[in-house]
Parts: sequence; structure tokens; C-alpha cells
Amino acid sequence: MTFNPAPTDLSGKIAFVTGACGGIGAATVAHFEALGATVFATDMAASFDGPATYRRIDLLNPTDLDACCAWISEVKPDILFNNAAIFGMGSVLEAGDLAQYDLLFAVNVRAFYAVMQAAAKSMVANGQRGSIINMASQAGHRGEALVAHYCATKAAVISYTQSAALALAQHKVRVNAISPGVIDTPMWASVDALFAKFEGKAIGQKKREVGLAVPLGHMGAPEDVARAAVFLACDQSAYMTAQTIGVDGGNVLR
Ligand SMILES: NC(=O)c1ccc[n+]([C@@H]2O[C@H](COP(=O)([O-])OP(=O)(O)OC[C@H]3O[C@@H](n4cnc5c(N)ncnc54)[C@H](O)[C@@H]3O)[C@@H](O)[C@H]2O)c1
Repeated sequence: MTFNPAPTDLSGKIAFVTGACGGIGAATVAHFEALGATVFATDMAASFDGPATYRRIDLLNPTDLDACCAWISEVKPDILFNNAAIFGMGSVLEAGDLAQYDLLFAVNVRAFYAVMQAAAKSMVANGQRGSIINMASQAGHRGEALVAHYCATKAAVISYTQSAALALAQHKVRVNAISPGVIDTPMWASVDALFAKFEGKAIGQKKREVGLAVPLGHMGAPEDVARAAVFLACDQSAYMTAQTIGVDGGNVLR
């Protein structure tokens, strides 16, 4: 038997990260950079706090989305961390629900898909054995009464991950997804406020409840997800594709 620990070293690798200013995005940029990758980062915020080359891109804006895809073909990433997304809540019985459908699918599925496609085309054209990491969610594995659209967008991410992985396997490009559980990021301020509105809870109550309900007993940190991203980005996971890894403290059993 041989012992063959593949390195987590990412030096010489180029990584492209969307949603870089968010909790999970910023932690992942920092991890990729610490392991030697050159990182190109985007978000809709005006600036990014870190050494990555940053461009402001609103994925909802068609011109910006085109510019993002063109930038990907320019920088030729070995790693894509396809992470930007938005959350929304509402019962399926609510009027005006299709506006939220359009918004969530525009960012979480349409822009997500365009970015993944741009990276896939670039990796194949340049003969890179790339790694695409898509951001799903535990919400993509099970519907929720008040979170229908967000759950559906994340189920779509899991499905696209599988289809893309099978299409790109012949080119040695790997495609996997991460399904975080409840991770303490800025997104949770809005999630908590929405649960307060829809379930009549006090501010902070839902966040406390979901943390305590996790089998490991607490919410995850952005770094917990960043470490899974590193694993999927590097050769440690060289024989893994089409998978969705749960980083959720035991919330979802597969
Ligand atoms: N925090 C959690 O508990 C949790 C759980 C499961 C999945 N996720 C997923 O993890 C990913 C990161 O989430 P996070 O918790 O770090 O949230 P976050 O809100 O901190 O980060 C998301 C980032 O996406 C960016 N973004 C949103 N819309 C955009 C647009 N139109 N154009 C460009 N950028 C846009 C935001 O500006 C933000 O910086 C998301 O895909 C989210 O769905 C998070």
C-alpha cells in the first residue's frame, strides 16, 4: 500500500470567486490566497477588503453578467467558487409571488449557470483540469413551507452540478457542490428578520433556535465552508465529481 497525500497547496492556481464580499465568499478568498492561489473576486459591493483583484459586478444586470463571463475567459481560472446568491421568503399562497421567483432565479440559477458555463468553456478551451465548486444549500435537499423559491433554486444548483460534471468529465474538469447548513454570515441577519416577520418571532430568536437544533449544537462559521471549498479545489478531491458535500453539523442525512 502506498501513502499518497495529495497537497492542499494551490500555488500557481487561478481562482475566480463570486459573492466574495459575503461571509462565506470572503473566508474562501482568504483560504485560497493563503494556500497560494491568485484570486479574482467579484461582488456587487463597491470594494473588497483584501489583496484579491476585485471588480464590482451586479449579476442581475445583463451588461455586468456579460462582463463577468468575459472576465472569466480572460483570467482562465483553474478554480471557480460559484457562490453569490440571495435569500427570500414567502408562502406559496401569497399574491405577487412571481416577482420573488424571478428575482431569486435570476441570481441563484440564471447568473449562477452563466458563470459556471463561462468557467467550463474556458477550462475546456485551455485544457485545464479545473475544479468548479457550486454553492448549494441544505435548502436544496428538502422543501420548506415558507422558503419555496430559495429551496427550488438550490435544488437546481445540485442538478446543474450533476449534469455539468457528467458533461465535463471527459475533459477532466470536476464539478461539485457544497450544501452548507446554517452558517453565521451577514445573510443570516436578513433570514432571521424574515422569520421574525413570517413566524412572529423576536429578532434573534430563529437564529438561536436553528443553531441549537444542529446535531453538533451550533451554527457553522464561514471558515467551515471555506475548508470544504479548499478540499474540492485541490487534488485531495481528485477522484470526486458530481457530488454535493454537506457542511451542516449533521443537519441533513444523505
Ligand atoms: N449562511 C448560510 O447559512 C447559508 C446556508 C446555505 C447556503 N448558503 C449559500 O452560501 C452562499 C454564500 O452565502 P453567505 O451566507 O456568505 O451570504 P452573504 O449574503 O454574506 O453573501 C452572499 C454574497 O452574494 C452577493 N450577491 C447577491 N446578489 C448579487 C448580485 N446580484 N450580484 C453580485 N453579487 C451578489 C452579495 O452581495 C453577498 O456579498 C450563498 O449561495 C448562500 O445561498 C448560505
